[in-house]
Amino acid sequence: MPSASECAAHNRSSFEDEFFQFLRIPSISTLPDHASDIARAAEFARDQLALAGLESVELIEGDGHPLVYGEWLGAPGKPTILIYGHYDVQPTDPIDEWISDPFEPTVRNGQVYARGASDDKGQILANIKALQALRQASGRYPVNVKVLIEGEEEVGGEAVTAFVKSNPTRLAADAALVSDTAMYMPDTPTLCTGLRGMVYTEWFARGAARDLHSGLYGGVAPNAVFGLIELLARCKDSGGRVLIPGFYDDVEAPSEDEKASWDTIDFDEEGYRRNEVCASTLTGEPGFSVFERIGARPTFEVHGLPGGFTGPGAKTVIPAAASAKVSARLVPRQNPASILQLMREFVAEHSPQGIEIDVRLIHTAPATMVATDHPAIRTASRALEEVWGRKTVFIRSGGSIPVVGDFQEHLGIPTVLMGYGLPDDALHAPNEKFSLRNFHMGIASTARFLELLGAPE
Ligand code: BES
Ligand code: MN
Ligand code: MN
Repeated sequence: MPSASECAAHNRSSFEDEFFQFLRIPSISTLPDHASDIARAAEFARDQLALAGLESVELIEGDGHPLVYGEWLGAPGKPTILIYGHYDVQPTDPIDEWISDPFEPTVRNGQVYARGASDDKGQILANIKALQALRQASGRYPVNVKVLIEGEEEVGGEAVTAFVKSNPTRLAADAALVSDTAMYMPDTPTLCTGLRGMVYTEWFARGAARDLHSGLYGGVAPNAVFGLIELLARCKDSGGRVLIPGFYDDVEAPSEDEKASWDTIDFDEEGYRRNEVCASTLTGEPGFSVFERIGARPTFEVHGLPGGFTGPGAKTVIPAAASAKVSARLVPRQNPASILQLMREFVAEHSPQGIEIDVRLIHTAPATMVATDHPAIRTASRALEEVWGRKTVFIRSGGSIPVVGDFQEHLGIPTVLMGYGLPDDALHAPNEKFSLRNFHMGIASTARFLELLGAPE
């Protein structure tokens, strides 16, 4: 009988072809114009599940973008793993900065450049291809498998949450596996132990009832753009500390053990600033390390601020309206609903004179932590060490994957966050890429993880 890795090696080029086909579908979830691409990507993912040997494969249509589901329950007595990923991708703007077409995958230096290459098409496909190789090798999988793929992760969609909440029996599993995070460094197998949560909002400011001539009324009229800026400037000090009262009340410091484990990771802060953040300096709260600032501290950010005159040339106007996309990243124990309430109270109290500001919620997710002593995590760590030949590193990540909180809350299961991205994959940015080596090593890692999960102790 061939091994799964022999089957994966044999299929190397067809796996890559299928990866590239997936990348050619511009499944941008936030843009309504791409609805038909979303549908095509969902069908592609469904067909991939069937090809990998899953059964009862289906598209689940609901209010939002379709979910893709498949399962195989042919290993009674063995654990059940729930694999999750997303087929939707971020928009491509600023498009001029892409070196090659974001939806025509292009290999340069062993990296596949395309939108969604790392986040998350390459990673979820690595998991599916691991299943395919296992099935081809032995006609079965070593454990029971359920696969759930969604199309609204990048927009904080509700469909997957509703599905998880209303199908706890169908989705029952011992642990979830999500490959949608990054490795700490190239060739350094990594398990992510915590994700931040978030509250994403949009703030709408109104000043006068209509735009006004800035000469005739400048000096008396409230300016909605400026009013919004004044309010935002009151939310955070220049050292990165959020000034909304109560914001830090529930924040818990990382344990001494966790801090000690971060200290053992060799981290080049100057290189990180130069090569990854690509800025003249790192900012943020003094007294907290970079690991703490991105993993264990909450943040407050403004993502965009449309309002007033933005065309070429000059127009002398006092804008009557402006808006801002504002989010906070949350850490464990911070409650998204309470943080939203604190934001609203702060806005009500601190809006400048003559400016009315309405805070609308877009989406929330709680922060999540994974217990490193859970058996599934230990098995994952062992599998990674076997495949990569290096010790597994455990780090938190600053990003968010909302469904991980749903798995914890509604299914009562931990999630193994075994990601194969690299720090310079440029997620959500121009020239996103995924390492082809990591695609294949990801397939091997997932296959080994499932084999070890299914192996009697
Ligand atoms: N895969 C990312 C999150 C991520 C990336 C976590 C790298 C850890 C390491 C995910 O697709 C993402 O971008 N999530 C959004 C969630 C939001 C839209 C609810 C995020 O973090 O902004
Ligand atoms: Mn993702
Ligand atoms: Mn993303």
